[in-house]
Amino acid sequence: MSTRDDSNRVLIFDTTMRDGEQSPGCSMNLEEKLRIAKVLEDLRVDVIEAGFPISSIGDFEAVREVARTITESQVAGLARASRKDIDRAWEALKEAKRPRIHTFISTSPLHMRVKLRMEPDEVHDAVVDSVSHARNLCDDVEWSPEDGTRTDHDFLCRCIESAIKAGATTINIPDTVGYTVPDEFHALILMVRNRVPNIDKARISVHCHNDLGLAVANSVAAIQAGARQVECTINGIGERAGNAALEEIVMALRTREDAIGAWTGIHTESITKSSRTLSSITGFNVQPNKAVVGANAFAHEAGIHQAGMMRDSSTYEIMTPESVGLTKSSLVMGKHSGRNAFREKLIELGYDLGDNAVQEAFVRFKELADKKKQIFDEDIVALVDDQVQGPGERIRFVSLQVVCGSKGPQTADLELEIDGVVKQVSAEGDGPVDATFKAINSLFPHQAKLQLYQVDAVTEGSDAQAGVMVRLEEQGRIANGQASDTDTVVSSCRAYVHALNRLLAKREKTHPQRASA
Ligand code: KIV
Ligand code: ZN
Repeated sequence: MSTRDDSNRVLIFDTTMRDGEQSPGCSMNLEEKLRIAKVLEDLRVDVIEAGFPISSIGDFEAVREVARTITESQVAGLARASRKDIDRAWEALKEAKRPRIHTFISTSPLHMRVKLRMEPDEVHDAVVDSVSHARNLCDDVEWSPEDGTRTDHDFLCRCIESAIKAGATTINIPDTVGYTVPDEFHALILMVRNRVPNIDKARISVHCHNDLGLAVANSVAAIQAGARQVECTINGIGERAGNAALEEIVMALRTREDAIGAWTGIHTESITKSSRTLSSITGFNVQPNKAVVGANAFAHEAGIHQAGMMRDSSTYEIMTPESVGLTKSSLVMGKHSGRNAFREKLIELGYDLGDNAVQEAFVRFKELADKKKQIFDEDIVALVDDQVQGPGERIRFVSLQVVCGSKGPQTADLELEIDGVVKQVSAEGDGPVDATFKAINSLFPHQAKLQLYQVDAVTEGSDAQAGVMVRLEEQGRIANGQASDTDTVVSSCRAYVHALNRLLAKREKTHPQRASA
């Protein structure tokens, strides 16, 4: 094992809120981005890329607020190779304790010809101009040649050398389309280190997409070749097949530091919480067999494995659940538990809520404890995540009564509060969920299509809460909603209403006038 020092420390650059947010249905509002930023800071990521300020007012505001709030991590904002983009990024970033401007332009022959319609010399001039302009504003400038892995090597080296001369402090090589393979990427990083004369004046970073499922392997290969920053996202969210998953890279480095010879400053015990927070905000649950954060990542089903595990957990576990912050599901409290114990439990689960929010959660906890004998940590997490979604919504769930069973017809009597007015309707459908969704449509007519409806048990047992995810789509806009309740139809209704509220918020962002029902 090599000794740990600055030369083998790998910086973690998280782009969950920028590249990750570009996955369909993953967009987040300001309050959600601030929650993610806080979680990233608890994880101790080195750089948080908070958004692309010129892309929308929402992105600009999110970057500005994250820049104002975060004190430990650096905060970066993305900008194309134009002075207007860079000025806008700087405007959003300038209050950060340690700001970074990240500017990029495509350098592959295909992108230059088809996307930019620029000659290589023009692209090269734009690199020099954009990096110099950014460096005049900010001491920390990252430059990326988009589609770097399909870029001609001579041109790549020429642009990198000029970017460093113009003031870039980090050179990031993106595998924008997830095309490279580990050996090739390793060789590319070595090539850059050997051929760019001033490369020792910048840190080499990599940014891998997962189109061939190789993003993490490519990132690790690049680290072995000397890259000292990796760009990644929580749960690997991102465009198409996603970006390299932060938790996988970090745990590979921690578990195989002996083989890889590099380390990170990440507080790995906060990984599970960051994964769950992101899932609850985006509504994107991770697959059960996902490395590190999947529900089965530390589950042992086969008898032969269980026997070994009981004697010594290292027989089948290469990292401990505790090292990623996974505590065993424990029976926590019942209906006699008091508010102070509940508040302590919330803190233990990583929630730092204000007095009103704790009180609201406590009331819902008591309601749940009346319905359900055993309350697990997961129940409390589901309950609080559900609540954090609440404020600022036009439509609120009031009550639901359904008739279901084999005799039919299945009906739903629904009450919703819409813009402050309680409305009621009865509807029939093919089953209670269909009847409920029809009732919502009749109280609040809309054109959104149901793209996904998914139900999971939050814990074991027939009295488990049903965690429901609903995805709605309207004119290319996608919104996810989720809710949990011991009654599957109630949680389905609340998840639908949540998705609809988020869709309305997006509609209003595009058309600032009030969206009508
Ligand atoms: O994938 C990519 O090339 C990017 C750049 C902007 C770094 O996201
Ligand atoms: Zn990317």
